[in-house]
Amino acid sequence: MKHRAIKRRNVVIGIGATAGAAAVGGIALNANAATGNASKSSDGSLVFDPDAYTKLTTTVTDTEGTEHAVTYHFWKAITYVSKPVDTTYQSLNVSVPVEIDGTAVDASNAPILLANSVGGYMPSSVADATGVGGASMGGGGGGGAPSGAPTASTSASPTASASASAPGANGDTNATGGAMNTNQLLALAAGYVVVEPGARGRGLKNSAGEYYGSAPAVIVDLKAAVRYVRANKGRIPGNVDRIVSAGTSAGGAVSSLLGASGDSPIYAEHLKEIGAADASDAIFAVGAWCPITDLEHADGAYEWNWGTNALSTGKQADQTVSKDLRSQFAEYQAKLRLRGLKGSGFGTLTARNYDEYLLKQYMEPSASTYLAALSDSDRETYLAKNTFVTWDGEKATFTWAGFLTHVGARKKTVPAFDAFDLSAGENNEFGSATTANRHFTAYGAKNDTTGLAGKRVESDIPELLNLMNPMYHLVEKVNGKRSRHWWIRLGTNDTDTSHVISANLAARAENLGDEVDHLYYWDQGHGANTDPGDFITWIAKVTGYKKAGKK
Ligand code: DHB
Repeated sequence: MKHRAIKRRNVVIGIGATAGAAAVGGIALNANAATGNASKSSDGSLVFDPDAYTKLTTTVTDTEGTEHAVTYHFWKAITYVSKPVDTTYQSLNVSVPVEIDGTAVDASNAPILLANSVGGYMPSSVADATGVGGASMGGGGGGGAPSGAPTASTSASPTASASASAPGANGDTNATGGAMNTNQLLALAAGYVVVEPGARGRGLKNSAGEYYGSAPAVIVDLKAAVRYVRANKGRIPGNVDRIVSAGTSAGGAVSSLLGASGDSPIYAEHLKEIGAADASDAIFAVGAWCPITDLEHADGAYEWNWGTNALSTGKQADQTVSKDLRSQFAEYQAKLRLRGLKGSGFGTLTARNYDEYLLKQYMEPSASTYLAALSDSDRETYLAKNTFVTWDGEKATFTWAGFLTHVGARKKTVPAFDAFDLSAGENNEFGSATTANRHFTAYGAKNDTTGLAGKRVESDIPELLNLMNPMYHLVEKVNGKRSRHWWIRLGTNDTDTSHVISANLAARAENLGDEVDHLYYWDQGHGANTDPGDFITWIAKVTGYKKAGKK
């Protein structure tokens, strides 16, 4: 498997417009891309200033190891709503390639990669970026550092820096930001437009002590960003009908949600409240890496998958709770009535056959690809160390139990998402303006250990779950405006959520007739993106785009 760090160097070689000088459509704009402040039109209108860019150069090393010199126009920290709550987060950056390897390129009809940097459902900001791929998350970017966010096991990844200025050797293997930075750089070098929206996230608290970033803020903001881009068709270069979203983990979840929920009316009031542009928020395609989604069913799916794997302490999670949750999963899965992907030979997917399905459809092919790419001696070494794998010279086979043992410790306790003590990041994501952490499943609420009166979820929770779950838009309300192209990736060692979550999303989309490209990266953990070049090629394929020279 090709697996290289993507490097870049940024050099400012000119400034496209003088701060405050540009006027578009009679509206004065603060073109302060070079000064580092969030810019927006002074009257709150949402008109993009095509001239307010900084000209940058960067060197992108592609997945073959070839360096590309890219000159691009960079628009920084443009507020994408007319009634922002916090411009640190509700702003986006735009990068448009104008010259690649000495040849002028015209990106006016190129696909638009909408790359979010959401991690852990935390706030993400592009306000301090100095070039493409420079987002930060976890309250970075100056204002509103999250307070009151629980320090649960789930927050390990969210607190990782997403700074993309130095992706380093693991830029495409580990933290959320690294993977996405890779996509942005490769997209730019392929001649695509890159839009990077920030978004509010859990934990943000205003001076009145109210939380303003919990669900559904993240998806409302990303939709507003899409609307801003579309409303500025012809001003922002790129094809607004070929927006391809990308995100990892919580960012993969909201990327899927963006694709599934295009133009859904259930967001209308929320979008109005922040002054989102009056335009469609449907997107063309979804890229989702290890999406942490379908949260209200994720506890059951987790126990079905990892329930008998020990915790990192060596102890088992509470098996009574685990079994309860596993049976909830069986019920849910039966209700979904999903069929295995085409060619899998699997009919209805159930709690009884899902292990075999994952094995045959994903795990064994993933291991086979991995082993086939190794040298003979490396393969021998691997097989000697991993005796659970049988290799026939072409294909790897193993049992589900062998696979589970190979993965080892489960990352999360039980329940993994709706923690009885409200300590999971997701409890914080479903908090309200005045309550930091809340239960979002009946089972979590019933078993609450924090003294919750009534032991039931609050009345607004069901609607919040719909607003946050792509499966709602694919199953309960099949959305005709959804994306029809899905790129889904996940490391086989990723125990941040159940493997079923991605596989269900893929199966449902494909059962609806959409095009799905879903595979698992062998022996990779959370946040892996080991085939970023293939994603870029896939974008060209599904959008039908061929890079155009300057006319
Ligand atoms: C992320 C990881 C998690 O384990 C989780 O529960 C939510 C989000 C993340 O990396 O974004």
